[in-house]
Amino acid sequence: MPDTPILEVSGLVAAYGAIRALHGIDLSLMPGEVVAVLGANGAGKTTLLRCLSGLLKPVDGRIVFDGDDIAGKPAEGLVARGISHVPQGRMVFPGLSVRENLIVGGWTRDRAATAQGIDRACTYFPRLAERMDQQAGTLSGGEQQMLAVARGLMSQPRLLMLDEPSMGVAPVIKAVIFDALADIARDEGVTMLIVEQDAELALDLADRGYVLETGSLAVQGPAEALLVDDALRRAYLGG
Ligand SMILES: Nc1ncnc2c1ncn2[C@@H]1O[C@H](COP(=O)(O)OP(=O)(O)OP(=O)(O)O)[C@@H](O)[C@H]1O
Ligand SMILES: [Mg+2]
Repeated sequence: MPDTPILEVSGLVAAYGAIRALHGIDLSLMPGEVVAVLGANGAGKTTLLRCLSGLLKPVDGRIVFDGDDIAGKPAEGLVARGISHVPQGRMVFPGLSVRENLIVGGWTRDRAATAQGIDRACTYFPRLAERMDQQAGTLSGGEQQMLAVARGLMSQPRLLMLDEPSMGVAPVIKAVIFDALADIARDEGVTMLIVEQDAELALDLADRGYVLETGSLAVQGPAEALLVDDALRRAYLGG
């Protein structure tokens, strides 16, 4: 593994008005690594991803992606540079078909790459292949989440960030989504940052993890170590 991180975050501070949500986060990802971000509701996980994908301008700190400081840069440009963010809560376009949602996800790519991307989505998610012309709003919740993940892959990201991909999804679909993510990480070397409430599921996939507690990093380490760490328990039980 090369020894230059693809993403290096230092001293990241974010706020909503006067209220600080992140108090100086340091985090780094090596190319090809899968890293989990865990923590209780309101810990700042979504805020962190929003800063990294350019949806929220940080108050302070550096976000170096592929050698450039991207803190505060607009989201559109970051997609073209290789950062993809699958937001929390299945944000598909309900009035568009499955195929159209995928095409929108591939807006930075040419026609050939888009066609390839749709084929790849069908391979990872056969259920979507059967529903290409169905309106996304009529898909089941789990199918919408698969579509959200598949759409996030359409830009051929080098860094894929996922915000609670298992939220509200039945166990069988959770398994389909996490199996696909494992294949994509292994076969394509896509670097991933995965926010999850289901710590076991995330740490099973991830190489390393970070635990956020009220806007600060409480603990970090290899996935196997975190699975048995008391701090992780505390972060979830709030004690
Ligand atoms: N748009 C906003 N305006 C004001 N405060 C916000 C806004 N979004 C988030 N916050 C606050 O910032 C803090 C962190 O929120 P964030 O959504 O990042 O948490 P989270 O870890 O993703 O939680 P969850 O697990 O519930 O998704 C919370 O205290 C939240 O109330
Ligand atoms: Mg969140």
